[in-house]
Amino acid sequence: MNINWFPGHMKKTKELVKKNLKLVDVVFELLDARIPLSSKNPDIDVLVGNKPRIVVLNKQDLSSDEANKQWIKYYEKKGIKAVLVDAAKGKGTEKIISITKDMIKNKMERLKEKGIKNKPIRAMIVGVPNVGKSTLINSLAGSKSAKTGNRPGVTKGKQWIKLRGNLELLDTPGILWPKFEDEKVGLNLAFTGAIKDEIIDVETLALRLVEKLQEIAPLPLKERYSVEVEDRKPIDVLDDIALKRGCIIKGGEIDYTRVARLILDEFRNGKIGSITLEYPDNI
Ligand code: G4P
Repeated sequence: MNINWFPGHMKKTKELVKKNLKLVDVVFELLDARIPLSSKNPDIDVLVGNKPRIVVLNKQDLSSDEANKQWIKYYEKKGIKAVLVDAAKGKGTEKIISITKDMIKNKMERLKEKGIKNKPIRAMIVGVPNVGKSTLINSLAGSKSAKTGNRPGVTKGKQWIKLRGNLELLDTPGILWPKFEDEKVGLNLAFTGAIKDEIIDVETLALRLVEKLQEIAPLPLKERYSVEVEDRKPIDVLDDIALKRGCIIKGGEIDYTRVARLILDEFRNGKIGSITLEYPDNI
């Protein structure tokens, strides 16, 4: 999904998320496990307030196992529940449900004491574009789910998807914006494909990615393309990759657009490796 963020739009989506938050007992904050900092909306903590929240680190199949462990530890230390998920394959989604049930247990007990039984636990997914919100909704919903339809007291048009364990999920996620001001954040979002080659031209973006990979993942880069990467200028590495992959135009010149797209695609699909771009140490 491509969204042009301008202040009016940001205000509107924020108001919508705020309104929907009032209807739910728990929030699933979805982040891209490769960039948990850059894929976080800057206002989310204030927006969610004291409402129970689970941080869902999605696309764990594309991020490094070591980094995943560090992020889980980081959130644990902060007293925040965090789960690693591969929404595309449905991995980790059961854990979201079990943690939710556990978190809301006391509230449910209190309601039971008041004679209110089996009140569904309501949840919604919130996150910036492309973190996998729709994929997670589909994965949680599965084939057994059923939409509960409108009910009295619920804003007209809201659809709740019935999940296992008396849980209901709002079928439309809350879409928020990332923090664009920082160049690093913009680059991370572009590297992972969250914003599609909008901030800089594709050739420069690929060059910056090569530079970044030389720094944080030289071995996977070297092995993927059989090129020397250490102590070399990123442009020389890019040229070598182009030659190895036949990205050449007539006359023997390098086709920079083609090689740039190739590297970005392969990085985004995890073909260069499971690589995380941000670690808790970066905070
Ligand atoms: P959104 O609603 O938050 O905007 O995200 P959406 O579910 O549309 O997912 C964005 C892309 O990320 C989709 O790829 C989706 O398949 C992929 N995706 C979601 N979860 C995972 C995951 O856990 N692992 C992996 N590897 N991919 C995941 P797409 O359809 O190819 O879209 P695009 O890349 O063309 O944007």
